[in-house]
Amino acid sequence: MSEAIDIRLTINGEAVARRVSARQNLVDFLREELGLTGTRAGCEHGVCGACTVRVDGANVRGCLVFAAQLNGARVDTIEGLSESGEIADLQAAFHARNALQCGFCTAGMLVAAAELLRDTPAPSRDEIRDYLSGNYCRCTGYHAIVDAIETVAQQRGAAKGGT
Ligand code: FES
Ligand code: FES
Repeated sequence: MSEAIDIRLTINGEAVARRVSARQNLVDFLREELGLTGTRAGCEHGVCGACTVRVDGANVRGCLVFAAQLNGARVDTIEGLSESGEIADLQAAFHARNALQCGFCTAGMLVAAAELLRDTPAPSRDEIRDYLSGNYCRCTGYHAIVDAIETVAQQRGAAKGGT
C-alpha cells in the first residue's frame, strides 16, 4: 500500500490541507480530490500538455509532479486563472477565433499562452508555435490558436502603448 503524506498548499488562492498518497500525481489530485476538472489528463507521460498548471509561478506538467512534492507550494489552475480575469482576453480570443473544438487541450493551451505572453509580450508566430509545441491539439490544426494568441499580444501591446 502506498504511503500517505500530509500536505498544505495554496490552490487558486485558497489554503488546502490534505492527506495524499505518495504516488498521486498533481492532475489526479486536482481532479479527484478537489473537483478541479478543468485540468485534463491526456497522455500522462509529459507529452501532450493537457495537464499544464502553474506551480509557484511557472508552468509544469501536472502528470509529472506528485502532489506530495507540493507542500507549501502555490498552485494556479485554469479555474483560478479564469476567476481572476487574468486570461479573460485569451479566452475571448480563443472563442472569437474558434481556437477550440472538442476543448480537451484548451485549458492547457490557455495556461501555456498566459505564461508565453507574460514572458514574451510580443512573440512572433514562430515563437508562439514553438512555445506551444509541447501542447497537442487533435482538432484545430493550431492555426486558429496561434491567431488567437497573436491577437491578444497585439491587443495588449496596443493597450500598453495607449493607441
Ligand atoms: S497528461 Fe500530462 S503531458 Fe499529457
Ligand atoms: S480542441 Fe480538441 S484537442 Fe484541441
